[in-house]
Amino acid sequence: MSVSQPARDLARPIDVETSWFVAPPTGSQSDDIAHGILNEAQVRARARELGAAITRDYQHISPASPLVAIVTLRGAIAFAADLLREIDLPVETDFISASSYGAAATSSGVVHILKDLETDLEGRHALLIEDIIDSGLTLSRLIDTLDARRPASLRVCALLDKNKPCPIREQPGRLAYTGFSIPDEFVVGYGLDYAQRYRNLPYIGVLKPSVHARGEEQR
Ligand code: PRP
Repeated sequence: MSVSQPARDLARPIDVETSWFVAPPTGSQSDDIAHGILNEAQVRARARELGAAITRDYQHISPASPLVAIVTLRGAIAFAADLLREIDLPVETDFISASSYGAAATSSGVVHILKDLETDLEGRHALLIEDIIDSGLTLSRLIDTLDARRPASLRVCALLDKNKPCPIREQPGRLAYTGFSIPDEFVVGYGLDYAQRYRNLPYIGVLKPSVHARGEEQR
């Protein structure tokens, strides 16, 4: 069976042109944040919209073979927790871990599969949940890997997108659900890290360049 085409208005991300708040809340981790760009309420509201769209698009999927939600570890954990609770359908959830950054602030160019799925994707409708598309390298490699397992369909729901050119943008319907379009800055919080820190910030903010410059020196 097929699934519905994503609605155009929901496929288009919301632009984040300016800082949502200039001064982030104070606290030990927030001292490293230059400015916040999205708060928890905004992310949750967008997850509600995307969850409703996914519910509508997959409403005819067979209950005997539910949608497989693939959460990418570790960055997508917070967004996926919000999104999954907004999908009103039977869903199977699995996890995959692919990393290209290590402790660096820029992609290494090599993607490693650190933890693989336990689900057999053959013939299944699958939705890959990502936190951010930066260079698109991680996603591109993940899609290649998962497509080879012959799912019935494989779409992507990403919370953040920096809109850089990458081949997956040329694949019709692939980036079906996107939360926010953001500037090309190093963002952390709400699951996103720098050197494994800041994932637990309850908002998304721009890391002060001095912090990742300091980290690079220590490597
Ligand atoms: C981050 C993020 C995306 C990827 C995006 O993962 O979670 O998966 O980078 O960057 P790209 O589009 O330039 O490939 P990371 O490798 O840092 O692992 P993590 O999810 O554990 O933080």
